[in-house]
Amino acid sequence: MSVQAEIKRLTAPAIRARKNGTPIVMLTSYHAHTARIADAHCDVILVGDSLGMVMHGFETTVPVTLDMMILQGHAVMRGSRQALVVIDMPFGSYEASKEQAFLSGARVMKETGCGAIKLEGGQRMAETIAFLVERGIPVMAHVGLTPQSVNALGGFKAQGRDEADWGPIEADARAVADAGAFSVVIEAVAEPLAARITKDIPIPTIGIGASPACDGQVLVLEDMLGLSTRVPKFVKRFGELGPSIDAAVASYAAEVRNRTFPGPDHVYAMKKPAR
Ligand code: KIV
Repeated sequence: MSVQAEIKRLTAPAIRARKNGTPIVMLTSYHAHTARIADAHCDVILVGDSLGMVMHGFETTVPVTLDMMILQGHAVMRGSRQALVVIDMPFGSYEASKEQAFLSGARVMKETGCGAIKLEGGQRMAETIAFLVERGIPVMAHVGLTPQSVNALGGFKAQGRDEADWGPIEADARAVADAGAFSVVIEAVAEPLAARITKDIPIPTIGIGASPACDGQVLVLEDMLGLSTRVPKFVKRFGELGPSIDAAVASYAAEVRNRTFPGPDHVYAMKKPAR
């Protein structure tokens, strides 16, 4: 007898159905505790490969490995209950062939239980996206500025700011939609182009440095909380947690040094008075 567990999490098809609907709210998280907070407010939690820069201090996302993504993916799955969890495929884990992409994607899904994967690239990844989708792996695509290609692009630069450059970016978005991606992240793309792509393709667009017209928005959690030291122009700081954490750590250090912490409330008394 098989017992079908009730699916409580949002699914990739449910996000796909939000085209032209209520805006899709997506944030990154890499940990169980931040996932718990994001889960209460977001439709999608992205375990982004930005974790390489945010958590590990790398200059780019290029050094991130599949094992790193799986480890943090586990943590986010444990911390969340309702959001769709999407895990980024890191550089080098999917580009060589569609078979390599399937093996990496299947490993991520089997080992973490996440609901979808994300990969970077437009027309060049279309065949791979179709291959994965046909085999049961929901794919969120990512076009415009694709940070894993930073070395080829020559830096983290906004895309499509000259109308002459629009064609390939539009073709990328159309190609991933035709290939069966359930949604597409559009990163650091001129606003009118992001709005036009959103109008033209049948799947939800999720903007980051793109357009308010997109079907949803995503930010890196630490960037919007004011914890990252360098952030791109498109980041709005919705909080300033850096100074609060600094003040808390400074108070702790002072109280340890002057022996006011731990106080009587933070130590264990004997059950019977000591003789
Ligand atoms: O890795 C990441 O955090 C991302 C977002 C910026 C979309 O891909």
